[in-house]
Amino acid sequence: MTDDVELEDIKGVGGKTAQKLRESGYDDLMSIATMSSGELAEIADLGNKKSQSVITEARKLLDIGFETGKERHEQRKEMKRITTSSDNFDEVLGGGVETQAITEFYGEFGSAKTQLSHQLSVNVQLPEEDGGLGRQAIYIDTEDTFIPDRIEQMAEAKGLDVDETLSNIHVARAFNSDHQMLLADQAQEICQQNDIGLIIVDSLTAQFRSDYVGRGELAPRQQKLNKHMNTLLRLANSHNLAVIVTNQVMSNPDQMFGDPTKAIGGHIVAHNSAVRLYLRKSKKDTRIARLVDSPYMPEGEAVFKVKDEGIIDG
Ligand SMILES: Nc1ncnc2c1ncn2[C@@H]1O[C@H](COP(=O)(O)OP(=O)(O)OP(=O)(O)O)[C@@H](O)[C@H]1O
Ligand SMILES: [Mg+2]
Repeated sequence: MTDDVELEDIKGVGGKTAQKLRESGYDDLMSIATMSSGELAEIADLGNKKSQSVITEARKLLDIGFETGKERHEQRKEMKRITTSSDNFDEVLGGGVETQAITEFYGEFGSAKTQLSHQLSVNVQLPEEDGGLGRQAIYIDTEDTFIPDRIEQMAEAKGLDVDETLSNIHVARAFNSDHQMLLADQAQEICQQNDIGLIIVDSLTAQFRSDYVGRGELAPRQQKLNKHMNTLLRLANSHNLAVIVTNQVMSNPDQMFGDPTKAIGGHIVAHNSAVRLYLRKSKKDTRIARLVDSPYMPEGEAVFKVKDEGIIDG
């Protein structure tokens, strides 16, 4: 749709400005449309007024302005849900992980973020009557924790063909944050060639944390994360698919317990995730999921367990 539009097509953007933007990593309309005028002014060396008008023009080209409540309602009617395999958990989510949105699982190490990611990449393949979408998954693995054997166990427990289940998961290992962003771009092509119902990024933030360490690197890191999440959200909407991202937080006693804004990405990740679940360990194999600041669902907690066969009610 708008993918073949160049920066130079934005009214008020000349070759020089476009070049400066590209050098700073802003190479598509969406990234311009979602910038603040202050950011744009600084990066492209423009006046504030000029920046504001460029952003407005980019938004016009993208057609991301208002839509009617009816249009939004029609689109939301297409929204589907994927079961987590735990009724408790599904209930807290309002029926399962939803399409057309980014769902964030955050929690400390061992809180089951990766286990849930595995489970959902199996479950998306189930027929709709069994809580799936009958569609395939993309798994962007940034910590080298995707374990095919685990998929095998979970698929078997669901009575699915193991080889087919594995073949329906498109896995890529991200070696650094730029590579991770590139993989999200490539996911777009996979989505055009395959029937993808779920994209997982486990972990969303780990590579960004190690690539951008210094204080001065906070702003570029947040901008890149924002851009990355924009790519994911666009895919969620254009293909009616679910996106799950994971984010590790430390339960350091010096911090407010589990405060997600203390996690890497902080407000940027929170701002872009429509549904946010805070996961924490309880005794043994028991875990607790809490829905955090959902725009339309009550806060609630679910107890679930991780077993050989996968996720079950706790
Ligand atoms: N087959 C299994 N049976 C029971 N429990 C399991 C099994 N496999 C993994 N687990 C549990 O899952 C936990 C690991 O969870 P997971 O790897 O999903 O954590 P995470 O939230 O992704 O952590 P990190 O932040 O380190 O990535 C283990 O500590 C273990 O308790
Ligand atoms: Mg993990």
